[in-house]
Amino acid sequence: MLTWRRSQRQALESVDGAQLPVINSYPPRTAQAPFPPPREFAADEGAAEEFIRLFHAENPSAGPVEHRLREVMSEISMTGTYTHTSEELTFGARVAWRNSARCIGRLYWRSMRVRDRRHVETAEQVADECVGHLREAEQSGRIRPTITVFAPDRPGRPGPKIWNEQLIRYAGYREADGSVLGDPRYVDFTEMVRRWGWRGGAGTPFDVLPLVISAGQGTPKMFEVPEDAVVEVDLVHPSYPWFAEFGLRWHAIPAISNMCLEIGGICYPAAPFNGWYMGTEIGARNLGDADRYNLLEAVAVRLGLDTGHERTLWRDHALVELNVAVLHSFEAAGVTISDHHTESRRFLQHVEREEKAGRVCPADWTWIVPPMSGSATPVFHRYYDEAELSPAFVQHPEAVERGLGRLVN
Ligand code: ARG
Repeated sequence: MLTWRRSQRQALESVDGAQLPVINSYPPRTAQAPFPPPREFAADEGAAEEFIRLFHAENPSAGPVEHRLREVMSEISMTGTYTHTSEELTFGARVAWRNSARCIGRLYWRSMRVRDRRHVETAEQVADECVGHLREAEQSGRIRPTITVFAPDRPGRPGPKIWNEQLIRYAGYREADGSVLGDPRYVDFTEMVRRWGWRGGAGTPFDVLPLVISAGQGTPKMFEVPEDAVVEVDLVHPSYPWFAEFGLRWHAIPAISNMCLEIGGICYPAAPFNGWYMGTEIGARNLGDADRYNLLEAVAVRLGLDTGHERTLWRDHALVELNVAVLHSFEAAGVTISDHHTESRRFLQHVEREEKAGRVCPADWTWIVPPMSGSATPVFHRYYDEAELSPAFVQHPEAVERGLGRLVN
């Protein structure tokens, strides 16, 4: 039932490889037509059939598959597309998570809450529902994996798009001396929204960017995320009071918002989803990476380490303390987070369960192994199946460019 997904593979290759579209090679944009013309958004019958068969195989109570298949095929032949039942949508979204080879947190894939908002397609309503998503996903610190699914692409009528990579991300302001205040990853995105009239936030390293949303082929609109919908945690260290002086914080909810949810030949370009954080995503990558907040040296210096020689392992030591601070602070604030040791064990439990259920569990070693202490976690010591299965969350190259603020001249 499960097949390789060629279109996704090609999309990913062009993201990873050198064939990224060069922004300036897009046709020049005018005020009337700022985006590439819509593709034909007809549903692929083969993909539809494969999904409907998968749904019925895993949901025997849904009744005979042949009846539903006839219905879907006749809808496609008449309209070029078809409409998922709400059960199909919920199942499809959960299985897209189950199939996400890069995600270590899939043990709870069945628990994802699916907010069916397929009737929503104006930019204003999408923005509103994104804020509703954030509020519902975070119930007094207990984070619930949640997805909100907006209108799909239909023939001649593309669905809405959220440009931001995540619903909550921090601005990066390029300073006169070339340094960056905030998150360097979003310098271009920040400049883009400023050109479009965003006044900027308070001028801290953690100013939440506005949501940028376009409906169909319309021009994008910007929306501030209300402060009370953004739960954040101030970072302190359990043993080093000076750590608080860095004034660091991070948002509680990682909600990816620019990946397309593909189910049975239908694309839902706006389908933001969240889980909870694993500490290393913040402590090792967001705060530690040299091209992000780049804090290892500052932390090492405060720890009194000799940063003059790599062999003192000052980077490694600073990484550990940063990550201790992240886990401690989230825990103390009552916000869901997990550590990479626990999450690694859970992942292997997930792989085992999937195998017992007779399914392949696709996994990408390079993403599954945590960015610190790899070999101290059990996920390091084995290989995984690398199949690309559908339904899936897919990264379209243009969406990647939009998310980094690079699509507009
Ligand atoms: N690594 C990304 C970040 O730091 C989030 C990716 C999704 N993570 C998750 N735990 N669901 O913002």
